[in-house]
Amino acid sequence: MCGIVGYVGEKEATPVLINSLKKLEYRGYDSSGIAVINSAWNEDSSDEAIIVRKCKGAIKFLEEKIEAELVKGAINGKVGIAHTRWATHGEPSDLNAHPHTDVSGTIAVVHNGIIENYGELKAWLQSRGVVFKSQTDTEVIAHLLNYFYTQGAEGVRSENTRGDIFASVHAARQKLVGSYALGVICKDFPDRLICVRKESPLIIGLGQNENFIASDVPAVLEYTREVYFLEQDEMAVLYNDHVDLFNAYAEKVVRQPFHVDWDISSAEKGGYAHFMLKEIHEQPKALHDTLKAHLVTEKSASGGKEGKPVALSFSDEINDADFKKMIQNAKRIVITACGTAYHAGVVGKYAFEKFARLPTNVDVASEFRYRDPILDKDDVFIVVSQSGETADTLAALRLAKSRGAKIIAITNCVGSTVSRESDYVIYTLAGPEIAVASTKAYTTQLMCLYMLALCFGSERGVLSRAEFERLLTELESISDKAQNILDNKTEIQKFASKQFNKSKIFYIGRQFDSANSLESAMKLKEDSYMHCEAFAAGELKHGPIALVDKDTLVIAIATEPSLYEKLASNIIEVKSRGAATMVITSDTSGAFDSCCDSVIQIPSGESALESMLSVIPAQLFAYYCSVLRGNDPDKPRNLAKSVTVE
Ligand code: M6R
Repeated sequence: MCGIVGYVGEKEATPVLINSLKKLEYRGYDSSGIAVINSAWNEDSSDEAIIVRKCKGAIKFLEEKIEAELVKGAINGKVGIAHTRWATHGEPSDLNAHPHTDVSGTIAVVHNGIIENYGELKAWLQSRGVVFKSQTDTEVIAHLLNYFYTQGAEGVRSENTRGDIFASVHAARQKLVGSYALGVICKDFPDRLICVRKESPLIIGLGQNENFIASDVPAVLEYTREVYFLEQDEMAVLYNDHVDLFNAYAEKVVRQPFHVDWDISSAEKGGYAHFMLKEIHEQPKALHDTLKAHLVTEKSASGGKEGKPVALSFSDEINDADFKKMIQNAKRIVITACGTAYHAGVVGKYAFEKFARLPTNVDVASEFRYRDPILDKDDVFIVVSQSGETADTLAALRLAKSRGAKIIAITNCVGSTVSRESDYVIYTLAGPEIAVASTKAYTTQLMCLYMLALCFGSERGVLSRAEFERLLTELESISDKAQNILDNKTEIQKFASKQFNKSKIFYIGRQFDSANSLESAMKLKEDSYMHCEAFAAGELKHGPIALVDKDTLVIAIATEPSLYEKLASNIIEVKSRGAATMVITSDTSGAFDSCCDSVIQIPSGESALESMLSVIPAQLFAYYCSVLRGNDPDKPRNLAKSVTVE
């Protein structure tokens, strides 16, 4: 997730762009940049036609970098684009920051989204002599645009792209696979700004003799409340006195602007009351993006549409041959992490043992680092960390490295310390997580662990080709199933409104569901401050059942049909001692109807994978209880988002 803004109007563009960009810093903050069409430029001058300034780090560093030039009037231009980045391809650096330009500096581009076929396009451009400067997927767009603008387009519907920037953008977008919101400027058209979107959001702000583009409404609210929400595949050309909208076929469309009456803070949250709720709802996309980055599909014979998934590839981040050798030699998996990431590791243990038949240990990083662990060079050590900066996790990583283990990192932050110090890195493409309570980071960490476990299983011959492909197809369905749960969230809200005053809550489950119970309980603890524990259901009778009485709520997670009966017996035991009961289940046969006060249905499928979906109702339950108890779900007391000290 990144933030883009663009301006065309009567004012100097740079201060407006920087000001608007700051309102989008919640979308990404590892680097930023601006590009403006230089108003002093002409064919005979030696000045840059498009002035580009970029900087690693927060927007304030970019501001500091350009301050002196701004004072001197050295960055003057009335048309410009700017970007705040959350890295996905290439570490955060000045070079990888947007905007990106073509080799001649004629065209500049900002991009939010992921170009899935960028490797293919890059090779195509390189074979035509284009030299790349950055490691980003976005740079291909700048070069592709310039190619069409100077050479003409091949094999796309807009034939006359030479010298026509609008036609070049229209042609280029037909070559791009993935998600994008693009802002484009061209030195030969100093009166306009072009934008287009697919999957990634983009809005157009309509001002008086000025117009704007932005990834989100807060960026323009200081200037205007009249906006167009650009729809899927729409393009627009902005001038200072009007905006032309076009559909996917480059035909003009006309519609009324929308008047925004939200305040800035609710606009930043995309209309959700809190970041936590927004991030819970971002999970279908985050899961889709994380899987899509590695899923190889067979193109179906008809129409070139994506076919069934056939493989997983980590070659963007990883040298394939070395990686495969490590998989073959692996004797054991060791997973280490803290908090939510540790809970993902517990699910990972079940996944590696089931799908790859490899013994797997999972450890809390703060314990691992002090217990002189036994490690071997053929152990594969997986660290999981959203931030990539957690002190205990880093210490565990360094210890494992010093003992010769190979390190795979699963992290959400490109360029983080964990990513830099590991042998291999797999990124969760969740985008920035603002709420302290982790939600989308957890489910995308699970997606990465499942992908790795299946990859190990397939490479080591544990999974047959047919079984591997079946499981990949199941993984592909997870994102839609997550959406289905979110579409039916009112049941959970109703249940929360009846139960938010309970004094003791227990989550129980078996196997994968027991692992996911740990995270479900953690969400409730940190957000609602209700006392909550998770137990393997079979452990109840060995102690915890002594706590059960009429003030207790027991929530069971049940996604494995062969264990329904056993779990139902556990629920009956607590119900007979006065507990209120709820089940989160994929069962549709009514197996829990008689023993549970409430049944939350989740979609069914391969239970070892679908179990991960059970955490979404639990996240929602924690969120609603938190709000009902008057807490701030985004900032639970006593907690920090990133724990960089011991
Ligand atoms: O950034 P990390 O994933 O390394 O953070 C680890 C924990 O501090 C973190 O998961 C914490 O438990 C969550 N905020 C809980 O929701």
